Amino acid sequence: MKNKSLIKKRFSKSLKTYDDNAFIQKQTAEKLISLLPETSYEKVFETGALTGILTKELIKKIKFNSYTYNDIIPEAKFYIDKIIPEAEFFEGDIEEISLSEKFNLIISNASLQWCSDIYKTISKLTEHLNEGGILAFSIFGSKNLKEIKRFFDIDNQYVDIERLKEKYNLINYISEEIKIYFDNPVDIIKHFKLTGVNALKEVSLTKSRLKEFEEEYGKKYSQGDKVYLTYNPVYIILYSK
Ligand SMILES: C[S@@+](CC[C@H](N)C(=O)[O-])C[C@H]1O[C@@H](n2cnc3c(N)ncnc32)[C@H](O)[C@@H]1O
Repeated sequence: MKNKSLIKKRFSKSLKTYDDNAFIQKQTAEKLISLLPETSYEKVFETGALTGILTKELIKKIKFNSYTYNDIIPEAKFYIDKIIPEAEFFEGDIEEISLSEKFNLIISNASLQWCSDIYKTISKLTEHLNEGGILAFSIFGSKNLKEIKRFFDIDNQYVDIERLKEKYNLINYISEEIKIYFDNPVDIIKHFKLTGVNALKEVSLTKSRLKEFEEEYGKKYSQGDKVYLTYNPVYIILYSK
């Protein structure tokens, strides 16, 4: 089970710094939208909207008649109101809230990995698709943040694509690896704090643990005078069978 109150706390705290540091989420938002099969959808629903990185990109590329969005933190409304003032907001945990409508496009960027049961959530979302509607989302694969897994005991939710194929028609599935570079290992920890990505576990970093992290990370994952970290975004577009 995911610690939802920790997720809320971390993302609320990261709001002011999120946009300037969420360069991976910006890339995945752009790519996810570029993979959509159509450029027009009547009713759109976005889950995990936060400050609207995906929303901003979507309004440039996609036409729609109505926009509904959700986030577990209420502050999302402040940001999305500025992008689509007439959009309707459903605050709450996507695993818990009830959706009364159906949509033609349900979309989510870098959010569904925070669900406790991702298969159940995908199933819930596809039940709210109109005929011919699609669910498009980006999450992260098993190689995501592989360099720091051991240090921080990260247990991300991954999606088994074979399991999805049994139940859904897959329009697109892409997994990619992106290496990003930092001046030193401590900057990696700062990067997580600024984007809220440290919401997985309450990890207490003692001085000696931090020193151990810096030394070991520097030895294992350096390239030139930088250290690197791997992101493994996965893009999935599907509809119900
Ligand atoms: C990494 S951010 C991505 C934000 C945005 N989609 C973007 O493209 O930048 C993850 C978002 O998912 C939200 N979130 C996490 N768990 C959620 C849940 N169970 N229900 C709804 N939103 C959730 C967080 O509050 C946060 O806004």
